[in-house]
Amino acid sequence: MRIDIVTLFPELCQSFLGASILGRAADKGLFEAHCHQIRDYTLNKQKQTDDYPYGGGCGMVLYAQPIADCLREVIRQCEEQGRPRPRIVFMTAGGQPYNQQIAKRLAKCDSLALVCGHYEGIDERVIEAFADEEISIGDYVLTGGELASLVVADSVLRLQPGVLAEEQGYQEESHWDGLLEYPQYTRPEVWEGRAVPPVLLTGDHGKITDWRARQAHARTAARRPELYKDWCLRHPLRPRRWKRSERAELIRTDAAWEAAAAIYAEAWQGMCASLCTPAYVAEHTPDHMLAEMKADRAAGWAFYLHSTAGVPDALVGVCHKTGEIGRLYVRQDARGRGIGALMLEFARKKLPEHPAPHLFVLDCNLPAQALYLRMGYRWEGVHKVYDPAENPDTVQFCRELKMVYAPTKNEDKTSGN
Ligand code: ADE
Repeated sequence: MRIDIVTLFPELCQSFLGASILGRAADKGLFEAHCHQIRDYTLNKQKQTDDYPYGGGCGMVLYAQPIADCLREVIRQCEEQGRPRPRIVFMTAGGQPYNQQIAKRLAKCDSLALVCGHYEGIDERVIEAFADEEISIGDYVLTGGELASLVVADSVLRLQPGVLAEEQGYQEESHWDGLLEYPQYTRPEVWEGRAVPPVLLTGDHGKITDWRARQAHARTAARRPELYKDWCLRHPLRPRRWKRSERAELIRTDAAWEAAAAIYAEAWQGMCASLCTPAYVAEHTPDHMLAEMKADRAAGWAFYLHSTAGVPDALVGVCHKTGEIGRLYVRQDARGRGIGALMLEFARKKLPEHPAPHLFVLDCNLPAQALYLRMGYRWEGVHKVYDPAENPDTVQFCRELKMVYAPTKNEDKTSGN
């Protein structure tokens, strides 16, 4: 790959590209980088590169002509090397927000020219004439495009084959495939009283991979919920097979009702501990939940209890009248075994008369939303709002969202239907 940076500070850019990993990779011929001085292409005696803006206003605007002539020279050099015309990117605060997807796309170019603006901006006409795209590296304004162009160059060049020692290095990293990276640790095992998570010392690669995946999911969900939802949409989930020791049965006996109410109360209290007042949470005892479920049954709901080796560990309800699925709860210590997905699919199949069953979920309950999204449910809108100002039992504003089963064709196949 060839990268050209068009700038008023070529030495600054060159010194970055010549250092460390990128410098060594360039020495090995894994890519070529050229930094061009815009000033060298000026036609006036003073080598002036900018002027006052038409229409007034503060700051100066870079002339179109020297940038255009510099880009023409870059294009000529690429042609001379038998390369295609470079993809020309202008670094501007108003460009499209940069991300790893764009880095991956640009990394496929044979040659890339990055143009750095300075002062108040660049004469728009040269952008119109040459830009394939404009990129911003974030919602803040820099004094110039140099740092931005180096961010783009760095993230694109490290994706070139051979630049990183281990190819897998960048495959597992933050934003690869849309998840943030799991936390990393090195020696010593205990640093200032903080121990490395014990699983990393077990040598059990299966367990370590699972732990890292769970960390990556939890971090992305907590720090970047929008990224996480996108990830879920791109990763449909197929429920695992039922194990021989597993059963799901209609709740009929007193023992089954009590077991379900206990699971329901435990899960509900866990979910609502930070959303509701302690007194309100404490009211939701298993007896309270039992009464609620029995009232629901009278209104047309059927509840099913899942058990593993005879021990109840999850429940789900379906309403044949309305096509709603609800009360999908898995006992705390049975989570992470795929029971939620199994019971969601089970519930949907109990409602063959409703091709698009629906359910409700709190917007802050990301693990549940992740499951529903991955199983083909899509947001339909806000069903209810819990506002502390209006509801004294609530301590945190949250919304209940309606989700409807509407898998894409691909997901339909994935879930085995
Ligand atoms: N030039 C000034 N600010 C910028 C930004 N945020 N991204 C890209 N180029 C810029």
